[in-house]
Amino acid sequence: MIGRLNHVAIAVRDIAAASALYRDTLGADVSEIVPQHEHGVSTVFINLPNTKIELLEPLGADSPILKFLERNPDGGIHHICYEVEDILAAREQLKATGARVLGTGEPRIGAHGKPVLFLHPKDFNGTLVELEQA
Ligand code: CO
Repeated sequence: MIGRLNHVAIAVRDIAAASALYRDTLGADVSEIVPQHEHGVSTVFINLPNTKIELLEPLGADSPILKFLERNPDGGIHHICYEVEDILAAREQLKATGARVLGTGEPRIGAHGKPVLFLHPKDFNGTLVELEQA
């Protein structure tokens, strides 16, 4: 069902510092910082030859990544995103196995402008999994 690794998301406290680290120390192709108020995060995309890294910094008092950064004050891997061809078919297949879909269970338009769903980390080896319709 799952296809390519679309991105690995890393939560950070200081997205400017994290961007500089990837750009200057690691020599990566780093995007501008984009505030995404509807998602409660600012994002930077780092384009690698075979996938992307998504840096996430909390934006606003009810950002969905604030709790994660309380538990991981140095930042850390927040989720991984796999591509699927048909997100509704993937959801039904997963629900039939007992996997839990977070939120309303309906796909939302994610930070890349495509439909996404998140799967409960307890059902996937302690890893928050995002599915994105490619
Ligand atoms: Co993501």
